[in-house]
Amino acid sequence: MVHCYLVHGSSSSLLQAMLLSPQAERNWEPVCSVLQDVLEEQPHRQLFALELGSGTGQHVIRFAQRMPFVTWQPSDIQEEARSRCRSIKAYIAATNMTTVLQPVHLDASEPWEKWAGLSRASCDVIIAINLLQYSPFKTAQGVFNGAGQIIKQNGLLITYGAYAINGTITPQCNELLDEELRKRNAEWGLPDIDVLRQLAYANGMRMERMIEMEECYKLLIFRKL
Ligand SMILES: C[S@@+](CC[C@H](N)C(=O)[O-])C[C@H]1O[C@@H](n2cnc3c(N)ncnc32)[C@H](O)[C@@H]1O
Repeated sequence: MVHCYLVHGSSSSLLQAMLLSPQAERNWEPVCSVLQDVLEEQPHRQLFALELGSGTGQHVIRFAQRMPFVTWQPSDIQEEARSRCRSIKAYIAATNMTTVLQPVHLDASEPWEKWAGLSRASCDVIIAINLLQYSPFKTAQGVFNGAGQIIKQNGLLITYGAYAINGTITPQCNELLDEELRKRNAEWGLPDIDVLRQLAYANGMRMERMIEMEECYKLLIFRKL
């Protein structure tokens, strides 16, 4: 249970605000292990990471617990008062994580100048977990355009999710996921890795690694040149 790692004595209002995504509970550990390996290889010892589409806040808290050398900025398209930002704040309060900043409202499909006042070349890492398939293509364009400006030289954009490759979706569970997403919203669906690679290239980044993860998901690592 996710609430097990909370400090004892969290108030019931905090516990109520903390949303629980079963998928995030399943995937945080493998994602965190890869992230830790990758970030420990970065030359700087104090890093600043922006998470796009943070959702409940489960990931950013776990990452912060494992990687104290990173300051984490969670964000979501949902505004301050709405349930996702409330949930992120409740996780921060319940775990007393001082390396996680308060969540900011950030629509990744917007130009980077509207990304919560973040300045050019201010982030060592941007991470987006299960964002690209749950949003229209203009969000992927926004993520890569913004990352190209906001990430420092040699910094990283890391995306985790299910993808098409060169127009093909395999295996069947990913085909079904793509169908399901498109039924929920005709503009959603699995993004194509080759298209993302081109978006990266157009924004001064290159795809450095593609790591196979559980349940046929992949973690993609793009580096700012
Ligand atoms: C499927 S959820 C994933 C949440 C979380 N990263 C996780 O893996 O548990 C997608 C998240 O992206 C957010 N989102 C959707 N479109 C967005 C956009 N244009 N900019 C920023 N966040 C967005 C949603 O509000 C939601 O929290």
